[in-house]
Amino acid sequence: MRQAPENFLTPEDIRQVGQGRRDFLRASFLTATAATVAATAGGRAAAAPAATTGIGDPDILNPTPWGSSLGQPVAATPYGLPSRHERGLVRRQSPGLTQVAAASVSFAPLQGLFGIITPSGLHFERHHQGWQDIDPTRHRFMIDGARPEFVKTPKVYTMDDILRLPPVSRMHFIECGANTGMEWGNVAVPTVQYTHGMLSCSEFTGVPLRTLLEDCGADLKAAKYVLAEGGDGSSMTRSIPIEPVLSGEVLVAYGQNGEMLRPENGYPLRLVVPGVQGVSWVKWLRRVEVGDRPYATKDEAVHYIDLMPDGQHRQYSSIQECKSVITTPSGGQTLMAKGYFTISGLAWSGRGKIKRVDVSVDGGVTWVEATLQTPILSKCLTRFSLPWSWDGQPALLQSRAIDETGFVQPGYGQLRAARGSRSIYHNNAIQTWQVAENGDVNNVQIL
Ligand code: MTE
Repeated sequence: MRQAPENFLTPEDIRQVGQGRRDFLRASFLTATAATVAATAGGRAAAAPAATTGIGDPDILNPTPWGSSLGQPVAATPYGLPSRHERGLVRRQSPGLTQVAAASVSFAPLQGLFGIITPSGLHFERHHQGWQDIDPTRHRFMIDGARPEFVKTPKVYTMDDILRLPPVSRMHFIECGANTGMEWGNVAVPTVQYTHGMLSCSEFTGVPLRTLLEDCGADLKAAKYVLAEGGDGSSMTRSIPIEPVLSGEVLVAYGQNGEMLRPENGYPLRLVVPGVQGVSWVKWLRRVEVGDRPYATKDEAVHYIDLMPDGQHRQYSSIQECKSVITTPSGGQTLMAKGYFTISGLAWSGRGKIKRVDVSVDGGVTWVEATLQTPILSKCLTRFSLPWSWDGQPALLQSRAIDETGFVQPGYGQLRAARGSRSIYHNNAIQTWQVAENGDVNNVQIL
């Protein structure tokens, strides 16, 4: 399989798109898909199918340089880096999407990842006012109440205070509510990195917020909401209902995949709110206020709301509903030969575990149950796969996830009937990848 030509846009191209030439973006994607740039693009160069190599192949007949020389010493890179052959696998911005890179998004390269964990350096990023690398010795986290009776002893914690408390580690996905947002009206972007890459999954380590609230003598009967506040310049504040706090799910986290959070992801402290859209996972967390009603802040009253078909806005629809996507084969890739492929992808639900994923290769006319790879965890990505023999004919690949509540991922027809087509947030429609006779894979929509 030839990798998607993700890195064909030159800095000059990106500059032009940034100046408003958005039509140029689509033209560039199409040209690059047609051209033969792919071998240099994905990092993993286009390989001939295994069965055609062998006799006369110098890479099996001759001694290799790496087998006949001294390798690099230990600790040559004290903090390890990916192979230079993988340098095409990076998070990317969608050119022209935002005016300023400090208030923007970078998308995770889902097409090149295995299993369910996102390497920390490839975790998607969404900042409203740029990221900061905060000095942990100067970071403070405060808990107080909207009224004095809500919190008996308001406290300010240092990182040392928090690191002394008993930790828990849990694996969860985080998805921005705007993921797949560009596709509400029609096909907009060519690859899974841009359609679904505001999605990542990590093992987070931290202290349940409940533990800290109890430490401050919060009145957990009177409390109905908490307000989480970030320490960056964006005045990011979100109301979180008390139920997931009381259940112990919401974490004040400092760890991600076994190390401290990356600065881009909120170092040294972020809120983890499993199943809820990314905006509530407040980064550089500096304060939690206990209250008895939602706060209607700017990031929940006028942003991250759903524009409904009747023109009204729906607020506080925070849970990321059941969704899935095939990550390989996916848009921009090319099937180089007929025969065996593994269809593989990711499924997730903000309401619990994934129960089943069905895959179709004929645009939803027939479905086959995919294999779910363990572990299958609540509010976590689940990897699915299905063996597929491509006969060289056009195909329409789709996945449809069902979660443990019985919720079935909708098609575009169903979703638009309920939600219209002018929204930005919470698009969990079934994704279709069209395989053409020449093996090219393209993003299409089926109602
Ligand atoms: N927290 C603060 N303080 N500032 C921000 O800009 N962005 C939010 C959320 N928390 C943001 C924030 C949004 S919109 C999302 S989707 C997630 O962080 C993204 O988290 P990530 O950058 O770790 O992927």
